[in-house]
Amino acid sequence: MSLVTSTEMFKKAYDGGYAIGAFNVNNMEIVQGITEAAGELNAPLILQVSKGARAYANHTYLVKLVEAAVIENPNIPIVLHLDHGDSFELCKDCIDGGFTSVMIDASSKSFEDNIAVTKKVVEYAHDKGVVVEAELGTLAGVEDHVKVAADAASYTKPEEVEEFVEKTGCDSLAIAIGTSHGAYKFTPEQCTRNEDGILVPPPLRFDVLEECIKRLPGFPIVLHGSSSVPQDYVEEVNKYGGNMPNAIGIPEDELRKAAKLAVCKINIDSDLRLGMTAKIRKHFAEHPDHFDPRQYLTPARQSIKETVAHKIVNVLGCDGKA
Ligand code: G3H
Ligand code: 13P
Ligand code: ZN
Repeated sequence: MSLVTSTEMFKKAYDGGYAIGAFNVNNMEIVQGITEAAGELNAPLILQVSKGARAYANHTYLVKLVEAAVIENPNIPIVLHLDHGDSFELCKDCIDGGFTSVMIDASSKSFEDNIAVTKKVVEYAHDKGVVVEAELGTLAGVEDHVKVAADAASYTKPEEVEEFVEKTGCDSLAIAIGTSHGAYKFTPEQCTRNEDGILVPPPLRFDVLEECIKRLPGFPIVLHGSSSVPQDYVEEVNKYGGNMPNAIGIPEDELRKAAKLAVCKINIDSDLRLGMTAKIRKHFAEHPDHFDPRQYLTPARQSIKETVAHKIVNVLGCDGKA
């Protein structure tokens, strides 16, 4: 199987009440860990590349790594997606350079300017058989080098979604319902505490999601910022010399609920980074004499695989759906 677009994947996910995992890739071990998990679980997959990933690893290396993963995992459909494309030129580069899906993220622009640039990307992409994700509403956190402060974030306005989709022709829409990027999604002040003193985040705005679904029946919705920041990873990072106080994510049961609705793509990056960092820190603490990258990247890659397998089965529900 060669790289595919997400069109068929999203249709099946929408009808089947599950979501596809979109995981960020930056190097070989990450590509391998993710695709080994998806391959073994027979799960459809989106591998996504940010502007930062392209700057770090180089477009060609990343495309070739993903093409290698396609060869190694012929049983599953794989999409190669640009995450948070911030200009027409970047999207065009990726469309011309082998990607099967791009995101144009003009969510920080005015409604009219967002429509204009998204429409331009859609016209170019569709002409080449590539699909386009757009965004309405602004997530707090780091969006590909752009830091969005919590007070600059805004939920998607459901009354805007029909006009936006109709005027742009986009294939899927990322909305803001309370998720955000990174490992610190809520301040302790925004949370409550349970009887054990553990922070409990405020719930996602399912009312906003449901209103969007009502206005866009059958249309695939995307959730960014959907890491759950597993506390065992955070504890492991901190135990072995890290310093990540009050790191907190989106509870898995909320994501599972969203996946059963119209959310067809769920973006996860921070949890992979956390697990990988925890295992590398542990490895160095236990083996201070090791200096061969293969020694510490082996448990790091294994951690990626285990995290992705857990997401596929327990959060996305897309195992066996390839
Ligand atoms: O949405 C952000 C993703 O986690 C990618 O992050 O821009 O640091 O590669 P990055
Ligand atoms: P997290 O930081 O929650 O993993 O979100 C990743 C993401 O949305 C990539 O676009
Ligand atoms: Zn994102």
